[in-house]
Amino acid sequence: MSILQILVKSNFGEKLDISGWVRTVRTSGSNLAFCNLNDGSSVDGLQIIVSSENMEQEKLDKFIKDVNTGTYLNCSGEIVRSPAKGQEFEMKLLDFSVLGKCDINKYPLSKSKMNLDTLRNYIHLRPRTNVFGSIFRIRSSLMKSLHDFYHMKGFLHLDPNIITTNECEGGAGVFQVTENDLSNYHDLPVKDRKYDWNKDHFNCPTFLTVSSQLQLEAMACALGNVYTMNKSFRSEHSSTSKHVSEFTHLEIEMVNNTLDDLMDISEEMIQYVIEDLRRKNGVDLENLNKFVSKGILAKLQSLLSSDYKRIRYSDLIVEINNDIDSKITDIERLYEGDDLSSAHENYITEKYSSPVFVTHWPISIKSFYMKQCADGYCESFDLLMPYGIGELIGSSQREDDYDKLKNMMKEKNVNEDSMEFYLDLRKYGSCPHGGFGLGFDRLLMLITGITNIKDVIPFPVFYKSCKY
Ligand code: 4AD
Ligand code: MG
Repeated sequence: MSILQILVKSNFGEKLDISGWVRTVRTSGSNLAFCNLNDGSSVDGLQIIVSSENMEQEKLDKFIKDVNTGTYLNCSGEIVRSPAKGQEFEMKLLDFSVLGKCDINKYPLSKSKMNLDTLRNYIHLRPRTNVFGSIFRIRSSLMKSLHDFYHMKGFLHLDPNIITTNECEGGAGVFQVTENDLSNYHDLPVKDRKYDWNKDHFNCPTFLTVSSQLQLEAMACALGNVYTMNKSFRSEHSSTSKHVSEFTHLEIEMVNNTLDDLMDISEEMIQYVIEDLRRKNGVDLENLNKFVSKGILAKLQSLLSSDYKRIRYSDLIVEINNDIDSKITDIERLYEGDDLSSAHENYITEKYSSPVFVTHWPISIKSFYMKQCADGYCESFDLLMPYGIGELIGSSQREDDYDKLKNMMKEKNVNEDSMEFYLDLRKYGSCPHGGFGLGFDRLLMLITGITNIKDVIPFPVFYKSCKY
């Protein structure tokens, strides 16, 4: 049992055994010491009082000599009411054993305060800090909360294959999979770079998935509403605070639905998880609010009370350009067919102080599978979030007409070889359906107020960096 679980059940005067890592230890003279023990289950851990009143002086001397920040310690003692402010319990130490020593002169976390950037050099040790403890406990709760939400809504949780023959979002940015040593391949002149995929593991080119959407559509078009929590992989050659090469991708697919249904459920889901986490991880959120994400509690409150704006892409362009003409903003002018930059995303969410659904994008800049409207637009939306998060969700109804889909695949040069199964879905009992992909790590950034995606992922893998 964790310290937190023990404390919830324990009574004053009870004798207990607990273990954890020493966060701090300080002595007061030669017969008194205070030690904070934390096993990762809570922000506060447990205060241990080491006094010659409760143990022989010889043992106490040994404690002072052997125990320092980072030591893994087992403590036996009596739970008593704490006279200190802000904590209910503490432990009077009766006996202890050092299970894991820690060289204080070399331990990277021995310094009192380190910022998040510095801690990124110690990815394997940073979960032992109070800030990362909170972030990762919230991460775990967020995952559970999303699963609860979709199970409550009757969705099936099914994770399709990660190694795949399709490139879903189009050719750019996929990681190829091979079992062969290709280290010399790029040293060859381009004309000699022939590779026989028949001699590789799957007899054909395969990739790490960029999105599980296409397979999820097949599941939905048989079983009804489904979702996955797969990882997706993208080889983007840039390192930003919102992109990693491997991210957790919540994707849902609904049948017999409308684009409005997808916006409604997105909104309801975000409200649900924020309320749930405020209930379950209140102490962690307060901890982040106090030390690294000042104002996050107020931001979460505002996300709960704000109305999500819904605006068409072409109206948004006009609106932004009008604001530019009126000198309200000096961001870059937009033309039909332009994608939004981060500056545009931030401008619009700040202007409305709320999340914004930008709907009905031009099909020319979106994916082949999106349901086409008559006017060159498609039934799609991006959900933009405030506080610098930008795009959290990419969504669309799917083109369910066989001929229209086939023509768009041609137009966008989508390789049909591995897409027969996808076209079949439109041949045999095609049905209206649609879904979205949400960057789980970005949602966690929003909820924790942490501004770099690398700080909400236990072991982040990103451009030019895969260290573990
Ligand atoms: O907008 P995207 O590319 O949409 C799709 O992949 C669709 N096939 C999803 C679907 O409809 N089932 O990606 C969806 C979301 C983005 O809005 C963003 O939040 C996140 O995935 N995302 C990333 N998160 C972290 N690092 C990256 N490199 C990301 N690329 C996308
Ligand atoms: Mg997108």
